[in-house]
Amino acid sequence: MSGSLPKVVVTRRLPGVSLSRLESLAAVPAPPPDHPLPHEELLRRVPGAAGILCTLADRIDASLMEAAGPGLRVVSNYAVGVNNIDLAEASRRGIRVCNTPDVLTQATADLGFALLLAAARKFSDAERFLRSGAFTGWDPWGFLGVPVYGATLGIVGMGKIGGAIAARAAGFGMRVLYHNRRPLPPERESVLCASYRGLDELLAESDFVILCVPLTRETRGMIDRERLQRMKPTAVLVNIARGEVVDEEALARALSEGGIFAAGLDVYEREPAVHPDLLAAPSAVLLPHVGSATTETRERMGRLATENLLAVLAGAAPPCAVN
Ligand code: DGY
Repeated sequence: MSGSLPKVVVTRRLPGVSLSRLESLAAVPAPPPDHPLPHEELLRRVPGAAGILCTLADRIDASLMEAAGPGLRVVSNYAVGVNNIDLAEASRRGIRVCNTPDVLTQATADLGFALLLAAARKFSDAERFLRSGAFTGWDPWGFLGVPVYGATLGIVGMGKIGGAIAARAAGFGMRVLYHNRRPLPPERESVLCASYRGLDELLAESDFVILCVPLTRETRGMIDRERLQRMKPTAVLVNIARGEVVDEEALARALSEGGIFAAGLDVYEREPAVHPDLLAAPSAVLLPHVGSATTETRERMGRLATENLLAVLAGAAPPCAVN
């Protein structure tokens, strides 16, 4: 029976991805592992696959598509970001690429705002201090941060997550600036209470800068040494996008030289590696890529990734296609 079903490779055991749901319509030959598969192992698993359900840790490039063969119809990513997939190559081969937007917007915006607060008020450094046993009583000079309420927030990438962060900023009385490739329509700007700025102006004017852009050729390395130098020495940089948007070396230097006040990072240039100077920087709050990590969100991502994949295999329009 399963011989007549399309083969699907699931690269990792994932919340919300039900194997029994998949197996009612597809053949899933190997149980998904609890760890990312090395590229070589992926290459061994995909020949003959009609669908691949993968994560952002899987590099879905031309070699993988070639190894899968001409029957590959869909790559369903368990993420909103699709920078791990060679989109141009997929489109050239007629392979549908799908992702999981919307379901993770609020969880990721919560995390971004939490990082902003944590970096502004030195949460990580203060907690390390307490856990080390060094807390001997209230200190008028201890862990002085920068104010969030009433400050200016610059959102780089005013998409859905950026918009959800702007909504949170309203509760903190913040003035919101944003930068996109193009300004939004005025009606959308007035809903978000946000004003457009060129990137350099936004960096110079903002007390907090939060990065919410997809990783593309244009955004890779966007926040480099020069751009960091445009920021205020009291400013905080938060990155919930992709690590490669920021030059980590330059950021570590800016933190150690007092070029900016603090940084809150959820993503890294060479994940899972983190630049040693960032690990050593007391003013950096560092999280292990957990933007979408609530049980509800991850389960919704899994259900959406499954429905995307099954829809394409059934010849229907998937709920969220990228190409
Ligand atoms: C994404 O979806 O792109 C996040 O980085 C992980 O949820």
